[in-house]
Amino acid sequence: MLQPRPVNLSANKLLIQEVLTTATKEAAIAVAPHVGKGDKIAADQAAVDTIGRILSDNDVFSCEVVMGEGVKDEAPMLAHGDVLGNNFDSLYDLAVDPIEGTTFVANGQDGGLSIVALAEKDQMLPWAGIRYMKKLFVGPKAKDLLTISGDVRLNGDPETNLRLIAEALGKKASELVIAALLRDRNSDILNAAAKIGAHVIGLSGGDVLPAISTCFDDSEVDVLYSSGGSPEGVIATAAVEILGGGSQLMWDPQNDKPIERRLANERGELGKVLFPKSIVGQGELHVAFTAITPYQDKLTGVSLDDAGNWLPGDTFARSRA
Ligand code: FBP
Repeated sequence: MLQPRPVNLSANKLLIQEVLTTATKEAAIAVAPHVGKGDKIAADQAAVDTIGRILSDNDVFSCEVVMGEGVKDEAPMLAHGDVLGNNFDSLYDLAVDPIEGTTFVANGQDGGLSIVALAEKDQMLPWAGIRYMKKLFVGPKAKDLLTISGDVRLNGDPETNLRLIAEALGKKASELVIAALLRDRNSDILNAAAKIGAHVIGLSGGDVLPAISTCFDDSEVDVLYSSGGSPEGVIATAAVEILGGGSQLMWDPQNDKPIERRLANERGELGKVLFPKSIVGQGELHVAFTAITPYQDKLTGVSLDDAGNWLPGDTFARSRA
């Protein structure tokens, strides 16, 4: 589980945490009646409306959505570029995933959550039109390997990377536990994991919690290593940074959309490793999330109290001051 790691926060930063926490808790409660009902759109709409309303009404800070629900015409709220909140003296970038694991929630499966992250203005990587990123996340013990001066590189050989991470954790390569999305685009990583005999937790979706869970004190996951959604990569980077873990991301343009390669190239970032500094900046950072459905034995999801009212699932808020 995540243990409290108190940071001396100013009153204003505590208020920021409170607003973010309220937003994800209330979103989870709003989604609760939709769990297992098979309607992804209705579930997502409930979460979007709730987070949008709470962030819009808050007087503690203002924020611009840089990673959100998409472009305005398709998303009635939380679209990229939307500015929410009423204190423009305290302006942030927002990454928001009203429901991470929408499919899980609609199907009543484990691993759905609501999550938001705030970084200093113009410090968070904005949506760039490229759907996927390669991702590498580890907990605090292996963090140094993933820094700019460390030996692991996301654009390097996956087998070498995995062996280095196992060594840093004091494990045999065959004892390493790797979470990875089961997708064709991850075949190089999955093959490398198989070659060294590591244990793979194959994900059907939902790579944010496995990434964050590398920082749990009793984590079963040593490393999240695979290509998944870009917004989820940014939000997980914020969480893992605050929790003291290590991360690297890299654009992963797909052949079915040639424009993605061009966009990454135009940014000068095709094939380049992106470190947390260029994803969420080096300054103030806040993350809050609430479990909607349970996650293994680590997080409880939403539940009904004796009076028939929905209660939010486990909730965490952390900040880097
Ligand atoms: P949902 O749309 O069900 O919320 O899926 C989220 C997610 O599973 C992320 O966790 C992951 O990064 C991404 O989608 C993977 O995308 P794809 O299924 O297209 O490979």
